[in-house]
Amino acid sequence: MPPKLTVVLDKATSTRALVEGSGTFVIQVPTAAQLHLTHAVGTRSLADEPDKLARAGVELFAREGHDLPFVAGCSAWLACRLIPEPHNQNTYDLFIGEVVAAWADTRVFSDGHWHFENADPSLRSLHYIAGGQFYAIGESLTV
Ligand SMILES: Cc1cc2nc3c(=O)[nH]c(=O)nc-3n(C[C@H](O)[C@H](O)[C@H](O)COP(=O)(O)O)c2cc1C
Repeated sequence: MPPKLTVVLDKATSTRALVEGSGTFVIQVPTAAQLHLTHAVGTRSLADEPDKLARAGVELFAREGHDLPFVAGCSAWLACRLIPEPHNQNTYDLFIGEVVAAWADTRVFSDGHWHFENADPSLRSLHYIAGGQFYAIGESLTV
């Protein structure tokens, strides 16, 4: 079975209409260095600011064979195909994606493993709480 993931997309977001319209999306894994960029794109809407990505400093790049927008400077990217489930989408704002391709920066991921602990702290992934507060991924615990 191909890997899958879920995302919640509020009905108020423009992103939701883009995902529903194209049937595709990309999960971009932002880094600590992209703290302000991430907060900026997450607190403004394309509906109000059609140029919000450029204004936040987002640089997009293409990958051969994928008609999708990839954000430069992220540490990983998951190209997804929407598995349409209108009931889940309309009732719970829940979207299921099948991961069709994935890439990662080898400074933080290699040989099938993440190794943020050995990389520059600016490359650590961001995890949002609320109210403008994020955590960068922490220490590695191995059993
Ligand atoms: C770090 C961060 C993460 C967010 N994650 C989500 C999310 O998973 N789902 C969602 O519907 N909104 C999320 N939001 C809120 C949207 O990003 C916000 O409504 C945004 O303005 C939508 O932009 P759009 O209308 O251009 O799609 C998040 C906001 C921040 C700051």
